[in-house]
Order: sequence, then structure tokens, then C-alpha cells
Amino acid sequence: MALQSGPHIISFSSGKGGVGKTTVAVNIAVCLSREGKRVLLIDGDLGLANVDVVLGLDVRHTIRETVEDGRDLRDTLVEISPGFFVLPASSGVPEMTRLSREDQELLLKALEGVTGNFDYVLVDTAAGIGESVLWFNNWVNSHCIIFSPDPTSMTDAYALMKVLTTRYDKKNFLLIVNQVQSGKEGKAIFSNMERVLAQFLDIKPEFLGAIPRDNAVVRAIRSQKPFLQTEPDSRAGRALKRICISLTEGLNGS
Ligand SMILES: Nc1ncnc2c1ncn2[C@@H]1O[C@H](COP(=O)(O)OP(=O)(O)O)[C@@H](O)[C@H]1O
Ligand SMILES: [Mg+2]
Repeated sequence: MALQSGPHIISFSSGKGGVGKTTVAVNIAVCLSREGKRVLLIDGDLGLANVDVVLGLDVRHTIRETVEDGRDLRDTLVEISPGFFVLPASSGVPEMTRLSREDQELLLKALEGVTGNFDYVLVDTAAGIGESVLWFNNWVNSHCIIFSPDPTSMTDAYALMKVLTTRYDKKNFLLIVNQVQSGKEGKAIFSNMERVLAQFLDIKPEFLGAIPRDNAVVRAIRSQKPFLQTEPDSRAGRALKRICISLTEGLNGS
């Protein structure tokens, strides 16, 4: 087995909006950093940022200033706790979702200048299959795809994986089913998706786990804190810790 060099770079995408990408990405980032990993969480929703909202951050600089003014990306990083950094995006800036080729190259160079300092780089992307979503997914090595038992979220997640596989030759999909009633439901929903992916795209995804629909998550979002911090022993908190273990073990090939 080849040794991993450099950080694990993972996107969090879903197709459909509102399924829990930001919530899951933020809490996985918190979980990994508590394990002593150096973590960078990038808000890849360049036009409608919300990592800062979920974490209750007071953001001064964003990725936009790097792209538009050439500001050093290192000045934009916000340190949340030792070894855990967030790279915030701008909100209400629709043009940021359509980066020109020069801007893309600039951003890529800037990102590559900072990612080497981390064990994990997580990218919370926008919804849909727009340009920025595909761009970030093309950049990362693994794709964490989040969906819920809602059939429209499943078809949208499938559509996203289809584009990534057929157009970008991406196959490394790590699936999370969010907002389930029970673990059993989560496994059944994953099995359905697994079957469809095998049949139509000839790919085999990995199941990271399921997260129950839990009011602890809703309460945490209202208080702008990660649920892993406010209610770590809630059902969602325990599920998230198991997912974090699957993620790190899966990526290390054990
Ligand atoms: N496991 C869960 N249990 C209860 N509510 C959840 C859960 N996951 C997400 N939510 C709710 O869904 C909303 C959207 O989540 P968010 O992470 O912002 O989605 P996305 O980033 O995919 O648009 C949150 O505000 C939260 O209220
Ligand atoms: Mg989001």
C-alpha cells in the first residue's frame, strides 16, 4: 500500500440543499481536531457561506479577497482551537460561484500553499452541481456524499455522483445518510443507493454511517455551536463519533 503523503482532502456535497452538509462537515472537523489532527475546514459555498454561522464566527476576511485582491490566504484563516482552522467564504456574492479560469488558478495556488500544514482538509460545498461544486470536487481526493431518506435528496446525490464519475472519473465516494429514524433505516437507504450505483455506474461506495434526526442538532445550530460540543452524548453526537472513526480508519486503509 502506498503511504499517504500530504493531507486527506475531502469534500462534503449532497446535490440537494438542506440535507446537512455544513452541519456534518463542521462536526467532523471538530471531532478530528479533538483527536489531535490538524484540520482545515474550507467554506466552499463561495456565494452563500454558512460555516461561519454554524460556528458563530466573526469573520473579517474571506476567500473572496484572495481571489479578487490577491490577499494572502494565510491571513484569512480563522483559528478555532489549536490546530483547527476555518477558511471562510463570503455571503450574498453570487458571482463567486462562477470563478473565471484565472481566479480558479489563483485559488488553487493559494490553497496549495496552506493545505500542506494539515492532516485533514474538509471542504463544505454549495448545493447543486454548479461550477464551484464540481471545481472543489475535482480538486479533492475523496467525496463525502450526504443524503437523507427523502427520495429527492437520494436522486440529487445520485445525479452528483453520476457527474463526478462520468465526467471527472471520480469514484471515491464515502456515504453518510443523515436525518434517519433509526440505524436500520440508514443501512437500508445506503443499500438501495449502493445497488443503484453498482448497477448504473459500476462503482462501489463506502458507508461511513447514518445520523439520526435529533433535536440536539437543531438546538446546537440555534446556539451557533457544534452539537459535538453542546450535546456530545446525544444520539447524533454518538453517531457522528462513529462516523469519524470509520472515516479515519477507511482513509488509512485499515
Ligand atoms: N441530524 C439532524 N437532525 C435534525 N436536524 C438536522 C440534522 N441535520 C441537519 N438538520 C437540520 O437541517 C438544517 C440544514 O442543515 P445544513 O447543514 O445547513 O444543510 P446543508 O449544508 O446541506 O444545506 C439545519 O439547520 C438543521 O436544522
Ligand atoms: Mg450548507
